[in-house]
Amino acid sequence: MKIIKLKTQLDVSKYVANEIIHQVKNNPKSVLGLATGSTPHQAYQLIKEDYKLNNRDYSQVVTFNLDEYIGVDFDGPNSYQTYMKNALFDTLNIPKENQFFPLVDNADHYDDLIKKHGGIDLQLLGVGINGHIAFNEPLSPFNSLTRIVELAESTRIRNSKYFNSIEEVPTHAVSMGIASIMHAKRIILAVTGKSKQLIIKRFLEEPINEALPVSILKTHPNITLIIDEEAGEYISA
Ligand code: GLP
Repeated sequence: MKIIKLKTQLDVSKYVANEIIHQVKNNPKSVLGLATGSTPHQAYQLIKEDYKLNNRDYSQVVTFNLDEYIGVDFDGPNSYQTYMKNALFDTLNIPKENQFFPLVDNADHYDDLIKKHGGIDLQLLGVGINGHIAFNEPLSPFNSLTRIVELAESTRIRNSKYFNSIEEVPTHAVSMGIASIMHAKRIILAVTGKSKQLIIKRFLEEPINEALPVSILKTHPNITLIIDEEAGEYISA
């Protein structure tokens, strides 16, 4: 695992944006695995700015998002589809039919769909403070594929800031599995902010085990952990 520690969250966002921009420049037919959450938001903004400034072409790009809530309106303010639309898709020329989300209806064949498109070239990932990746909560099997999952209470509480109340936060989601994520050819794990200090310390120090889903990433052959000084306070990269 390559570890790159940069000063600020903006530096991390610039790194992530550049990697995605170059991935698509080098291979216009890239298959991107995309994440939601606060971590990638600024990187997406930078990709949009670069798109407008440099006339990039994303018309052959295919995207697979990591997860989606169950029970929220697809077009409503809280769905990850709306997040992606506002954060990235409303600006780039990625055809709508190339933008995939794991949903109850396609969960069983989402991994086949990824395979059919040649697999994910570059997977962007964040990590939850309990060590989840996508919505693979602690004790998710390492061999799991895309499926319906139950959200941990700590995840619901943390994500309730985006909803009017905790009661509104869904209890379930559809998530790519841990094996689905590990199949990606390359992974960028982006981690920023003080709230991630402890999980990153655990990630680096604890043995690989299913109680800490993120720990499996240490075995991926092509993974970069990109981290800012706040989140990386306990590591000396
Ligand atoms: C969310 C998402 C994950 C995301 C993680 C961290 O619940 N399901 O895909 O990576 O938690 O989110 P954030 O970047 O907001 O800290």
